[in-house]
Amino acid sequence: VLKMTDLDLNGQRVLIREDLNVPVKHGKVTSDARLRAALPTIQAAQDAGAKVMLMSHLGRPTEGEPAEEFSLAPVAEHLGELLGRPVTLVRDYLDAALDLADGEVVLLENVRFNAGEKKDDETLAKQYAALCDVFVMDAFGTAHRAQASTHGVARFAPTACAGPLLAAELDALEQALAAPRRPMTAIVGGSKVSTKLDVLNALSEKCDQLIVGGGIANTFIAAAGHNVGKSLHEADLIDKARELMGRVEIPLPSDVVVATEFSESADAVVKPVDQVGDDEMILDIGPETAARLADLLKDAGTILWNGPVGVFEIDQFGRGTEVISKAIAESPAFSIAGGGDTLAAIDKYGIADRVSYISTGGGAFLEYVEGKPLPAVKALEDAAAR
Ligand code: 3PG
Repeated sequence: VLKMTDLDLNGQRVLIREDLNVPVKHGKVTSDARLRAALPTIQAAQDAGAKVMLMSHLGRPTEGEPAEEFSLAPVAEHLGELLGRPVTLVRDYLDAALDLADGEVVLLENVRFNAGEKKDDETLAKQYAALCDVFVMDAFGTAHRAQASTHGVARFAPTACAGPLLAAELDALEQALAAPRRPMTAIVGGSKVSTKLDVLNALSEKCDQLIVGGGIANTFIAAAGHNVGKSLHEADLIDKARELMGRVEIPLPSDVVVATEFSESADAVVKPVDQVGDDEMILDIGPETAARLADLLKDAGTILWNGPVGVFEIDQFGRGTEVISKAIAESPAFSIAGGGDTLAAIDKYGIADRVSYISTGGGAFLEYVEGKPLPAVKALEDAAAR
């Protein structure tokens, strides 16, 4: 695909799709990781003398119904602080021509306020395309969506290319998955096997060890014949778990942290995995298991991490995720992490600068790992072929 860095943007009207879908509370951005990730792209376009229009979605508003709670206004303000000069939020941009100075940066209001955005409406895509000379797709986190601002616009823009962030994300994922340095160890945590089934299947073919955590691990513990008491697990996926265990090495916990209630004040008790009581739930891996998994990670050549191994938001159930985080940080492996909960754990344990690559994608990260084509990337490939 064509890259933004290959083009002369001086004086050009450049429309950049970013994923600025960040958490906002009481009108303030509460985590700006995605904004900071987009910053180098924005600055590069600005420095090149482009007239820069940024666009993004925020949340999941009812389409065609602008609602203040989904406005990008707090994002414009925060971006302005990061860039060191104000970023104007433009609410009317589909019909009125925008008159920008070279090097100016504006943010277009939430694309999901526009009717037709999510169903990739052609008229809307043409309206976006008419705004620009160059369309830059840089929103890796939304690249799995075939929508007017991620996919349709690339069909009609005079020039469509990949932004530096999108390109870096794809390079890092390729490095981890195409020809990984061995052994390759993946960690997949989260509450349900059912929502991660495709990714577990895909990784069982690729990696040497597959570490499972959270509610997902409980289903595997049950599959190994142990009582899981009141733990979150999926009885109907036990056979599937056994099948996966036959395909790849899945190191199961030998000890676990249990409690009789799910709360901040719950008493955490460490137990061997075969002694979980009927009234108990498993909320973390035990210290013996954590140490064994940490050893595995220290010897890995490639580590792919999606999802915590325990309820790390509550400190007494966070030890397992903390030990795993530190082991990833200390490992010489090429490590890549993605997903909202994973990023929160990385922040909590302060290892951000010791993970080789932190993806801004959640759903997009998983779909890439599953081997599914990303529609927005496909649109750029088609544009390059034209
Ligand atoms: C995400 O946060 O995963 C992306 O911004 C995509 O958001 P969506 O799931 O609402 O399309």
